[in-house]
Amino acid sequence: MNILVVGSGAREHAIAKSLAKTADVFTYMGRKNPGLARLSKEYEVADESDFENIIKFAQDNEIEIAFIGPEAPLEKGIVDELEKVGIKSVGPNKDAAQIETNKAFMRKLFEDYDISGSIKYGTFYTLEEAYEFIDNFNEPVVVKPIGLTGGKGVKIVGDQLADNEEAKEYVKEIFEQKMGGFEGVVIEELLIGEEYTIQAFVDGTHLIPMPAAQDHPHAFVGNKGPITGGMGSYSDKNHLLPFLSQEEYDQSVEIMKETIDAIKKEASPYKGILYGQFMLTKEGPKIIEYNARFGDPESMNVLAVFDYDLAEISKQIVDGTLDKALFENKASVCKYIVPDKYPDTKAADTIVEVDEEKINQMDAQVYYAAVYEDENEDIRLTSSRAIAVLAVRDSIKEAEEVCEEAIKYVNGEVYHRCDVATEELLNEKLEHMKEVKS
Ligand code: GLY
Repeated sequence: MNILVVGSGAREHAIAKSLAKTADVFTYMGRKNPGLARLSKEYEVADESDFENIIKFAQDNEIEIAFIGPEAPLEKGIVDELEKVGIKSVGPNKDAAQIETNKAFMRKLFEDYDISGSIKYGTFYTLEEAYEFIDNFNEPVVVKPIGLTGGKGVKIVGDQLADNEEAKEYVKEIFEQKMGGFEGVVIEELLIGEEYTIQAFVDGTHLIPMPAAQDHPHAFVGNKGPITGGMGSYSDKNHLLPFLSQEEYDQSVEIMKETIDAIKKEASPYKGILYGQFMLTKEGPKIIEYNARFGDPESMNVLAVFDYDLAEISKQIVDGTLDKALFENKASVCKYIVPDKYPDTKAADTIVEVDEEKINQMDAQVYYAAVYEDENEDIRLTSSRAIAVLAVRDSIKEAEEVCEEAIKYVNGEVYHRCDVATEELLNEKLEHMKEVKS
């Protein structure tokens, strides 16, 4: 089967690696990702928003199914355009993708369909109403632009915002800049607990959940510094997390099932990968937000222990015949290597050296993210996350140790969070959750 992967990051590298076990992979990427290029039967490096060109590449290569990696083309309706020329996609159409691309749509869906784990919130299209809501709320708030902001738009009182007065200033900024493409804002109650991710395969009706994972969004050791796309993540042998019970996992999956039933009624059947970002609170799991695609880095955790045929699953997703998926009972740890001082880096375009052979000899894996290969086949940094290193073992502890050893074989103007998935950090999370529940 000929499958097209759209996207150029580590998430797409992981998707392509899994697909390539049983299918011929063709990649359309905005930047020459060396890992993707190596795995692809054919690839094209061009503008990822040029749908006409993507369709031409797909038709030239007799593509049967497209697998859409990032959210931006989903928001612009790539799935609808491919459908018009008879190519089905693993990825929701524009209407169904609103679960990620329109936060007002997502919260209203929960309210209208009485989906479990709803929270207090308001959506506002005038500054006055937004201010009034914050003034009367009497609790710290979370401020979210309605549309996509590359994961950098959400600000939280007690984290990036000092208090609700600063939250009001940020609301003004969102309106003035039309941040995320809307002159509007969603304001939510602040959830206290531990965040985690559950990703699922969805065929419009059926949903198969994958192992839970936990990302580390802060840039610096000790969960300090600015929020990033994610500095590293882990998953556990039992597919739960040290602080997440089977019952809480099941409740989270139930919320996702209720959500896809509601999207089907409200917009269109959802086909693709659904990423649920949850907070485990004193009252149980609550949804923070959804993404309409695999997570980055969490895709690498789950695909590294995926023990089934991703091309076959892709076919089942587009045909609406999802049946089963298998995952090994192994733990995984993934750590991102990023340019020095990321996210405010000046290391872009410098060379990063990766001794993949040594890393593979240690039974660890390399995934290329926002780097590019130049004409001399040197790998160069950009200003975003550069390289993910992943290890799969019988325990998180072992996987974390191997990951740290493997990272020594990546050299350049880079750093990583050495505390991701360490025993110390996991114990802190357990203690935090005990406190929250007490
Ligand atoms: N790890 C966060 C995301 O994929 O959006």
